[in-house]
Amino acid sequence: MRQGDMMFAARRDHGDVFGFKSLVDDQPIVVTCHPHHVKSLFTADPAIAPSTAGDSPLRPIVGDSSVLTAVGERHRRQRKLLMPSFHGAAIERYRGQIAAVSDRAISAWTAGSTFRMASAAQWITLDVIMSGIFGIAVPPEPGTPEERLRSVVRWLLRGSSSRLAKPAELLNIGRDEPVGPQRIALERLDRAVYPLIQDRRRDTGRGNRNDVLSLLLDAQTDDGETLTDLELRNELLTLVLAGHETTANSIAWACERLLRTPAVYDRLRASVRAGEDDYLEATIHEAMRARPVVPMTGRQVQVPWQLGDYVAPAGTRVRVSILLVHHREDLYPDPFAFRPERFLGVKPSAHTWLPFGGGIRRCLGAALAMEEMRIVLRDIVRRTDLRAPDVAPERPLHRNVTMIPARGGRVTVEATHP
Ligand code: HEM
Repeated sequence: MRQGDMMFAARRDHGDVFGFKSLVDDQPIVVTCHPHHVKSLFTADPAIAPSTAGDSPLRPIVGDSSVLTAVGERHRRQRKLLMPSFHGAAIERYRGQIAAVSDRAISAWTAGSTFRMASAAQWITLDVIMSGIFGIAVPPEPGTPEERLRSVVRWLLRGSSSRLAKPAELLNIGRDEPVGPQRIALERLDRAVYPLIQDRRRDTGRGNRNDVLSLLLDAQTDDGETLTDLELRNELLTLVLAGHETTANSIAWACERLLRTPAVYDRLRASVRAGEDDYLEATIHEAMRARPVVPMTGRQVQVPWQLGDYVAPAGTRVRVSILLVHHREDLYPDPFAFRPERFLGVKPSAHTWLPFGGGIRRCLGAALAMEEMRIVLRDIVRRTDLRAPDVAPERPLHRNVTMIPARGGRVTVEATHP
């Protein structure tokens, strides 16, 4: 049985809280989908319910001290350091860049072509994140370390969608360091990342730059230490890896749902083309509810934890099933219907709409991802008429910690508009 179906079946058979054994280390894992439990876990002191992100498949690549994988004081410090780059004024700065990258990409789409929206959107989100993190212009100056890094990352991405990628990723689960093809790929990546870090270290004008690398190079710990090249590399790669595929697949899911729900697609086209944004916002919320790209997150409780009638012993890894919370009939009537109207004029609530997780570990890039979704989807809907090349809905495919459209969100462009 497929992972998503298994979760729905377990909920049906056992209720809001159920358990299973981890396939990786055979340890018990408890799953909940009750909003009260979600709230208790997300709002708890991180000392008693730290994140289980140390289990992340990114850990062999970025180590255990990046903002995604660290816990405790180290996590708090890294997050504080990075937060300003992903909020308020920073998002304002990203806006122009996102619009320019999106415009370039969509202008190249031609009527009659069929492609995977996940791949098309990935080139957009990758350029956005690379420009935010490393300050790489689009297109970058030829012959610079920036250009080399961009082309290596693009090469890696082409590889990560190949048939080899899945076995290569599985090889790495539970390891401290990557092995096999992923190791070779990372060595090539490192040969591009380190020269860029060193180049920027020497750049005395970097104080005028807004990218995360320049900011982190000048950041100091409380006792005046700066980050080493290795720490910088781990932090920057975390942001690139966490920040583009997720957003691209969210865009792909939104298109997949829209093209399978013509009444919604028609209403969205009419509203966007009339210059309105309310229905677009509601559609994004609904797409992320119906198809959360990260369907599960977790905390490891350090003290016994009350989950309804069940008490999880200290040490238990408790997973919040974002997918199941989003499909609760009591929160979202007719939960399998794609209906943006449920979010019209409604602000989603923190413990019932969870595509970005919550609490102190809530996705650092949530505001950036939302802005990308708004700009890119608005452009797509305004400038193209799409249809689904296959009538059947795309089933969710679980890859590592993500849930993506099995055929990549295939679309056919029927017409383009200036
Ligand atoms: C639609 C796109 C995205 C989705 C669905 C998503 C989802 C998530 C989720 C569910 C978590 C775990 C939260 C928790 O455990 O409570 C997370 C963490 C994280 N995400 Fe995202 N994410 C997206 C885009 C991004 C972007 C654009 C960035 C770029 C900066 C990013 C960077 C991170 C980081 C650094 C963390 C770890 C935060 C921490 O542990 O403090 N994500 N994301």
